[in-house]
Amino acid sequence: MLNKKLQTAQKSLLLWYSTDARSELPWRKTSNIYHIYLSEIMLQQTQVSRVEATYYPQFLKRFPTLKSLAASSLEDVFSMWSGLGYYRRAKNLHATAQLVGSALPKTKEELLQLPGIGKYTASAICSFGYKQIVSVVDTNIARVLARFFAKVDAKEKELWSLADAFLNIKSPTAHNLALMDLGAMVCLPKNPTCKVCPLHVECLGKDEADKYYKKKNIVYENKTLHYGIHVKNGSLAMQKSTKGMYKGMLELLCVENPHVDDLIGGFKHSVTRFRLDVKVYRLKNITKNVHWIALDSLENAPISSLTQKALRVYEGKLA
Ligand code: ADE
Repeated sequence: MLNKKLQTAQKSLLLWYSTDARSELPWRKTSNIYHIYLSEIMLQQTQVSRVEATYYPQFLKRFPTLKSLAASSLEDVFSMWSGLGYYRRAKNLHATAQLVGSALPKTKEELLQLPGIGKYTASAICSFGYKQIVSVVDTNIARVLARFFAKVDAKEKELWSLADAFLNIKSPTAHNLALMDLGAMVCLPKNPTCKVCPLHVECLGKDEADKYYKKKNIVYENKTLHYGIHVKNGSLAMQKSTKGMYKGMLELLCVENPHVDDLIGGFKHSVTRFRLDVKVYRLKNITKNVHWIALDSLENAPISSLTQKALRVYEGKLA
């Protein structure tokens, strides 16, 4: 694409960003690198509205600085992450805080060495935090670029090169945020609203938007889980998960033999690519070592939303 056309598109994009986009999000109005980093980690797999309304402000209230995060226990971090899912993010956040001390490094290369920081996150920290002249590509931006430059099946490397070619070096931060918002608000996966797009005139893919973006088909896996509830003297028997996505968190005991225990109820739950059919039992006998957690302290315990749902089944039966 000609330089002139690219410049016109850059200008329209910035104008749109200043009037129609999401420049008021709290992590866009701060220059605190830790806060920006935290927002990026939270936003990786969670909707903006949930992060903005609860998790981001609550987490920062509890851990206002990287130092306070590093000094806390992993259990405390998990408890603030409770319900947000993808707990490895919390683990990596904690590990990173302990590795870096009081400040995050300032280069993409150094950031990439830290746990949980990949190419996107390192670029986002450099662009949104340090205001460096770097391009950023996430799934939204990738879709915008593929359509704008009319690239079928563009690979990651090519998309980063296109992002470099399009980068507005006079306003790189706003440019990247604008592209992100364009993907989230206008250049949608299905039925993009091309008529209101600030890039409409220059966009090479506007007439065949679907051709340049294909959603990957996720292969779902069905699983049945059997969880057991055993309460004694106001405390609940739980175990510490030692592997998988809930590693380090507390979970309910697994029922070895579902025929022996009383079924209380069940529910369906989706997490990553798993479609779970969860059954909850009143567990008669406990055979292994357990952690006893007082029922009235469960609210602050490091538990997943899957465990929370199972507990609700149990509480429903008690009522
Ligand atoms: N602002 C900065 N990074 C963001 C993200 N990942 N999602 C939404 N808004 C953002």
